[in-house]
Amino acid sequence: MAASNIEVWQLGAVVETCTIATGIQRVVLESTIPRKAEPGSHIDVMVSANGHEDRRSYSVVESSEDGKRLVISVLKAPLSRGGSEFIHALKPGDHLKFTQPLQNFPLRVGAERYILLAGGIGITAMINMARVLKNLNAAYTFVYAGRTRSAMAYLEELQKTHGENLVVHVDDEGSSLNVDALIAGVNMDTELYMCGPIRLMDAVRRTWTDRELNFPNLRYETFGNSGWFDPEEFIVKVPALGLEVAVGQGRSMLEALEDAGADMMFDCRKGECGLCEVRILKLEGTIDHRDVFYSVRQQNATEKMACCVSRAVKSEAVLEAKSSSTSPAVVTIEVS
Ligand code: FES
Repeated sequence: MAASNIEVWQLGAVVETCTIATGIQRVVLESTIPRKAEPGSHIDVMVSANGHEDRRSYSVVESSEDGKRLVISVLKAPLSRGGSEFIHALKPGDHLKFTQPLQNFPLRVGAERYILLAGGIGITAMINMARVLKNLNAAYTFVYAGRTRSAMAYLEELQKTHGENLVVHVDDEGSSLNVDALIAGVNMDTELYMCGPIRLMDAVRRTWTDRELNFPNLRYETFGNSGWFDPEEFIVKVPALGLEVAVGQGRSMLEALEDAGADMMFDCRKGECGLCEVRILKLEGTIDHRDVFYSVRQQNATEKMACCVSRAVKSEAVLEAKSSSTSPAVVTIEVS
């Protein structure tokens, strides 16, 4: 059965874990309600992080034909909200609550040409897609960019599988990805699928827009947690609700407001849908926009933000000076 967005939760088992690259853990899960994962699908997992139960989304890297076995691979991020540490601590025999595969990054079959672009751990969202394109004999280029080879999961097996279709860029080998050059090779019939850090995806979106390419042909999956600045604690005030809440380094603004009793709207919780939008009334600091929902112009206007992923940080001048100012950023908002 194909993946869908109907959430079916199950208590599955961890059957295998291993480290496959620096800081990246591969975890094989056994489903009790199997469903095969289509390319681009993910599962939501209930993790225990910072004393709270939270859900996190992880791309499905592989799925057995019957959908009984699902593989995820997770980077332990030093500034993560705690979910990746929880996943890294899992051992075979543990049980985990997770959904059947969900789909919001589908591969459209039949395009004239494809580019798959993965940055770092974003590779996990692209492996299944690349496998399908290869099996379909599609015209595709699979671009994999990373900081250092030892941190690039699945690199060797991808080279074996995709041969010349795989183009590898490694920063510390002096072969960093040039986004302008990549997009220069795109025509109106090319579809580009990408997953990676926000800086990479933002650069691609800007270049794509500058070249006036077909916007529906640019598709992306986000992690919803990589930003322009390191996360730091900040204060959010909601005068209409009489709330003043500290948003810790390991919490999102949406989570902090929910904890404080605010009735919040949301859907994706990954900065993609815009449903969690809040209006900014006053700002002492800078907004670290981490969404892919707003245009650059909207983000620069600093009138609204996607509170599931975006954060406030001290002003850019303070950050650039690496000042040890202890006053947190403060953002005053109105909730829709
Ligand atoms: S819930 Fe979708 S962008 Fe925040």
